[in-house]
Amino acid sequence: MEQLYKEKHRPQFHFSPEEKWMNDPNGMVFFNDEYHLFYQYHPFGTTWGPMHWGHAVSKDLIHWEQLPIALYPDEHGAIFSGSVVVDWNNTSGFFQDGPGLVAIYTSADNYPDSDRPRQRQSLAYSNDNGRTWIKYEGNPVLSDVNITDYRDPKVFWHDETDKWVMVLATGQSVTIYTSANLKDWEFASEFGNKAGSHEGVWECPDLFQLPVDGDEHNQKWVMLVSIGDNHEFKEGSKTQYFVGDFDGTTFVNNNPDEIVLWLDYGRDNYAGVSWSDIPSKDGRRIYIGWMSNWRYANQVPTEEWRSAMTLPRELSLTSSKDGVRLVHQVVPEINSIRKGSQGYQNLTIESNQPISFNMFSPLMEVNLEFEKRTSDSFGLVLQSSDDEKTVIRYDVEKEVIAVDRTNAGDNSFSESFAAVQEASLKIENDRFKLQIFMDASSIEVFANDGKVVFTSLIFPNKPYDKIALFSDEGKTHVFSLKLTELDSIWGK
Ligand code: FRU
Repeated sequence: MEQLYKEKHRPQFHFSPEEKWMNDPNGMVFFNDEYHLFYQYHPFGTTWGPMHWGHAVSKDLIHWEQLPIALYPDEHGAIFSGSVVVDWNNTSGFFQDGPGLVAIYTSADNYPDSDRPRQRQSLAYSNDNGRTWIKYEGNPVLSDVNITDYRDPKVFWHDETDKWVMVLATGQSVTIYTSANLKDWEFASEFGNKAGSHEGVWECPDLFQLPVDGDEHNQKWVMLVSIGDNHEFKEGSKTQYFVGDFDGTTFVNNNPDEIVLWLDYGRDNYAGVSWSDIPSKDGRRIYIGWMSNWRYANQVPTEEWRSAMTLPRELSLTSSKDGVRLVHQVVPEINSIRKGSQGYQNLTIESNQPISFNMFSPLMEVNLEFEKRTSDSFGLVLQSSDDEKTVIRYDVEKEVIAVDRTNAGDNSFSESFAAVQEASLKIENDRFKLQIFMDASSIEVFANDGKVVFTSLIFPNKPYDKIALFSDEGKTHVFSLKLTELDSIWGK
């Protein structure tokens, strides 16, 4: 067997489980100086199966320590997605002295003597920093026989109303419940039956508040909603968000119902939610997603394990001509794996004469700032000597950025994998910035400071070792190009 974390396509600076299948991130919480990451886990295979919660912890969101499985299926079924909160004031009565962790998750089985899925919400608590968990004897705490898709509770404390709030995916809507003690839940409101995209079942909601443009006096609420795979749509599973107001009971969308806002324009960022209980002196809203897509997640060409998480990102809100939008920024803790870099300034790319640079490491961060001059389109190609390549192109006339993985590497495992991923992006002052993180089987592209993001799996047979900057039918100026080698987070 290949050495652990050295296998072909194994991500080197993204979290993936030591072995077997993983999907959604769950229960992310910060407590006693540790970031916890739980996740949907199938310990007996590399395809989806009876769900457990796997567990890892980190001091810095970048380096992860794999821990034993946290939650096992029980008499109420498998353990589907959910959240963890710190019960600071022991509202649940689960703790003797001091605060502890409470997990709120979906118990998934079937109705007795039936094939109909049954999804109900349950609790477990931990007195020892998430190392061991006790299931609540009163489980399940919330059910509804009329709603079949009834899952993925995300809970947070709402100070103004002195209550716990739960957002729950309920078919094609999000239902909001409130509670004083995490055990007894009351219906508050339902959102979304007519709003946004309904191209698939709604899953994994999140709801949190953020200042707009950093202004503490102008706060908005963001609701994330993942949308399950539907074969009528080529993108597979994807994530939308809403921006609005929330009073502890009701979420009001600030945009017209027909506006759809996408969290990520790449195919591989799904079921992501944010960390709970980040200390207020830190104040960040930190997000991580599952770096795959239900369309082909069970088929991607890895053997010992399947799936990784995205890089952790800080989410913030910025206002633009179109309205208030989410922006992603990789957390600055990434600095701990930055190694040597090479920089170039003021390059001119002549029409149809690409300039190439050697990439001195298979793990790379690329920072680039282009200035639009006379070309029809410009961009870069990441490639290997095997002619496998990923192309990032900005089309000047259409004002569209595309990440093309049609020839990125192995795509034989699914007809849906080869794809050109696109997003509209207007550039201001002719300047166009790109930040790219390239790992063994993914690239994450942040355009213009994270205003548009693409998270995309790629499976090159050999690591890309060359970057070529191109300018089609006219010139492009490059203010700067910086190539930074990144370190592996595993096995030191
Ligand atoms: C999203 C999802 C959730 C569910 C979990 C099951 O990817 O379908 O709705 O709780 O995965 O593993």
